[in-house]
Amino acid sequence: MTKSTRRDVLSAIGIAAGACVLPSCLNTAKDTQIADDTDLQTQWKYSKLDPNITAQRAYAEFEKGHCMYAVFAAIIGQLADEHGEPYSQFPLHMMKYGSGGVSKWGSLCGTLNASAAVIGLFVEEKTERAVLTSEVFRWYEETALPDYVPADPAPEFTLAIPATTAESVLCHVSVSNWCKVSGQKAFSPARTERCRRLSSNIAAKTVQVLNAWYDSKSQTQQKPQTCNSCHGKAGALENTLSQMNCTTCHTDISDEHP
Ligand code: HEC
Ligand code: HEC
Repeated sequence: MTKSTRRDVLSAIGIAAGACVLPSCLNTAKDTQIADDTDLQTQWKYSKLDPNITAQRAYAEFEKGHCMYAVFAAIIGQLADEHGEPYSQFPLHMMKYGSGGVSKWGSLCGTLNASAAVIGLFVEEKTERAVLTSEVFRWYEETALPDYVPADPAPEFTLAIPATTAESVLCHVSVSNWCKVSGQKAFSPARTERCRRLSSNIAAKTVQVLNAWYDSKSQTQQKPQTCNSCHGKAGALENTLSQMNCTTCHTDISDEHP
């Protein structure tokens, strides 16, 4: 390869002529170190927010990137409004991946994916993080949602959107349960509006849980997961890693079951 063709090839693949492409000249890369966890944790601190404002924000943010984006952008955006950087620098667009239970796979509900991500960003201690995450997840499983009513809903949605109990943290179960009760289709505008209001509920709940933690009142008692006394960690069988509501899927547990 001649010198000029080599330069052409390099520029064609976007590397400026003269830029380093050989391992022997890559030493400079070592100088750019990724900030270590302790540096970052001093920058990313939570401070208390008004959950009513968070809920309104989530409703508005939903239009830009759906459920996961709405919850995450509402909370980080509110912090950015109050404190500026580093909150204003977060690449929020990455949170669009979570809609439809991760790119329409119907796995973890995007609102919960965002809630856990926010908690993960601010709560360093592992057990506290698990407690706060479970508080939001269990509430989602057990509560009839959405009950958020936007101040200024889209004109076609001034009618009530029915609230249903998801009984699962999975997008698929949550949506299909709602379709069954509401009689609406999974890809209908009404279902989108339901998830939009649900985003407001979960954004507000996440902020309530973080506010309580901030006030160090987070030591709420968690109901023990009954199945896990045998199937979970340190149980006789220890063959299950989950905090989900078990009987949503294991519907055939008989009375003879231990
Ligand atoms: C007192 C202990 C205990 C509790 C509590 C318990 N299990 Fe089990 N479970 C067992 C044992 C022991 C087996 C294994 C039976 C076998 O292998 O023959 C089992 C087997 C199972 C299995 C696989 C075999 C089957 O029967 O389908 C599932 C699924 C299961 N349990 C789900 C659950 C769920 C869901 C709950 C809560 C509602 C629960 N278990 C609560 C002890 C328990
Ligand atoms: C989202 C649905 C879902 C939920 C929720 C769920 N499971 Fe399962 N579980 C499965 C599937 C699917 C399998 C694998 C298929 C099978 O053998 O049943 C499985 C397998 C198991 C098995 C092994 C079954 C066997 O035959 O040996 C046990 C034990 C079990 N689950 C317990 C639990 C417990 C306890 C919980 C609650 C903490 C739980 N599961 C929650 C879907 C679920």
